[in-house]
Amino acid sequence: MLEQLPHIIMNHVEYTYPNGTIALKDISLNISRGEFIGIMGSNGAGKSTLVKTLNGLIRPQNGLIFINGENNNSKTIAELSKKVGIVFQNPDHQLFSNSVREEIRFSLKAIIDDKESLQEKVDEVLDKFYLKEFENRSPLTLSGGQKKRLALASVICRDPEILIFDEPTLGQDRNGVEFFINLLKKEQNNHKTIIIITHNIEFSYEFIPRTILMFDGKIAGDGPTREILQNKELMERTSLILPQIIQLRTSLLEMGLKVPLNISTQEEMIDFFITIFTSSINDNHMEEN
Ligand SMILES: Nc1ncnc2c1ncn2[C@@H]1O[C@H](COP(=O)(O)OP(=O)(O)OP(=O)(O)O)[C@@H](O)[C@H]1O
Ligand SMILES: [Mg+2]
Repeated sequence: MLEQLPHIIMNHVEYTYPNGTIALKDISLNISRGEFIGIMGSNGAGKSTLVKTLNGLIRPQNGLIFINGENNNSKTIAELSKKVGIVFQNPDHQLFSNSVREEIRFSLKAIIDDKESLQEKVDEVLDKFYLKEFENRSPLTLSGGQKKRLALASVICRDPEILIFDEPTLGQDRNGVEFFINLLKKEQNNHKTIIIITHNIEFSYEFIPRTILMFDGKIAGDGPTREILQNKELMERTSLILPQIIQLRTSLLEMGLKVPLNISTQEEMIDFFITIFTSSINDNHMEEN
């Protein structure tokens, strides 16, 4: 029964900040258990506000939210935070302990009582997230990318069933992004529901199956990521930039090159170029002979 119910239901949710800014307008959506979803949209579209309604940090004035069929209004932030883990856009808003070790220990204390198991688990998490060498440092002294990794660790270590990442790839180098992608794969295998807020079009295009596109507090589009991101009219209307691969394909078509419409990844584009170059070399060769 629980399996059939959407993991998250939002029903006509609306939220206005105390200063009068209307941030969410009539948001309705369903997210299934184990889904991997992106939320995209221009600055100020309401993405961060939306996810904060899921763990109760923000309580909408109108509409209802259900997680596992249970109304969020009947739950405290502490109860909701056990189910919904959010790694915030800015790690400084999330890290408050005096040391990296203490940050992880504090996070785990909420779920582990036994002192010995707690220490063991802290060490395990520090190792897994490559944080051991910084364990005695203040989180404030870490680099931006390291802080982000610590924020990730402090949320994921509690094993919430819904994982939300606000701009996870921003400011991450190649290793950081790869580490994050591998982490996502593991969490997906553990049947977690994963929501990623991102401006990284190429990342979405490659990895995220479904995208919710927000604009001005509303849902402007919701569907398979590649359909959403290739919809020129929708992308222009919501001030987003088409993926580079789609821009390249359009330019090549405009130049008169017959690019197959099903080409949508870098690899396919490279294969296409190799095919046309090899055939033109062969043609030249034949002419010479
Ligand atoms: N604490 C706040 N008080 C008042 N208004 C706020 C507050 N936080 C956000 N807003 C406003 O609510 C709207 C939605 O903001 P939100 O942070 O949800 O946008 P976002 O889509 O996450 O944008 P970004 O891509 O820049 O992170 C914006 O107009 C923003 O100025
Ligand atoms: Mg935001």
